[in-house]
Amino acid sequence: MTRSEAPTRAAQVNRRSSQKPRATAPTIKADKAKLEQVLLNLAKNAIESIGEDGELIIRSRLKENKAEITVADNGCGIPAEDQEKIFSPFYTTKREGSGLGLSISKRIIEEHEGSTFTLKSEEGEGTEFKITMPVAK
Ligand SMILES: Nc1ncnc2c1ncn2[C@@H]1O[C@H](COP(=O)(O)OP(=O)(O)O)[C@@H](O)[C@H]1O
Ligand SMILES: [Mg+2]
Repeated sequence: MTRSEAPTRAAQVNRRSSQKPRATAPTIKADKAKLEQVLLNLAKNAIESIGEDGELIIRSRLKENKAEITVADNGCGIPAEDQEKIFSPFYTTKREGSGLGLSISKRIIEEHEGSTFTLKSEEGEGTEFKITMPVAK
C-alpha cells in the first residue's frame, strides 16, 4: 500500500492522545523510510482484517525510555496455531496476498538495535502489533 492509498481504505480517522503533548518529541534513531513501510504494512493488514465498522488504532507513547508504537484492530484476529506462521515469508491467507508484509516488517524492526516487534491476537477479537524502539539520548 502506498501512502496515498491509505486514506482511501479507512472510513474514518480519529486522533486520540493519552499523554500531554510534549514540547519536544522523543527522537528515535531509525531508517525513516523503512519505519514508514512497517507502519503502512501493519495498517494495511489491520484494515484488511476489519469489516465496515472496524477500528484501527495507532498509538505511540514513551515507556521506560523506549518509544512504543502499537497498531491495533478489532478485526478477525489470528488463530493461536497460526501466530508463528504469519512471520514466514510468503505465508498468506489472502487470495491475492504476497505474504511478505510481516516478514519484512519484523526484519526491519529487529535490524534496529534494542528494538522489539511483538504480536498479541485473539481469534474473533482483534490483533495488536507492538513495536518498541530505544529513544536516542
Ligand atoms: N491485523 C491482522 N489481522 C488478522 N490477520 C492478520 C493481520 N495481520 C496479518 N495477518 C495474517 O498474517 C498473514 C500474513 O500477513 P502479511 O505478511 O502482511 O501478508 P499478506 O497481507 O500479503 O497476506 C495474513 O495473510 C493474515 O492471515
Ligand atoms: Mg500484509
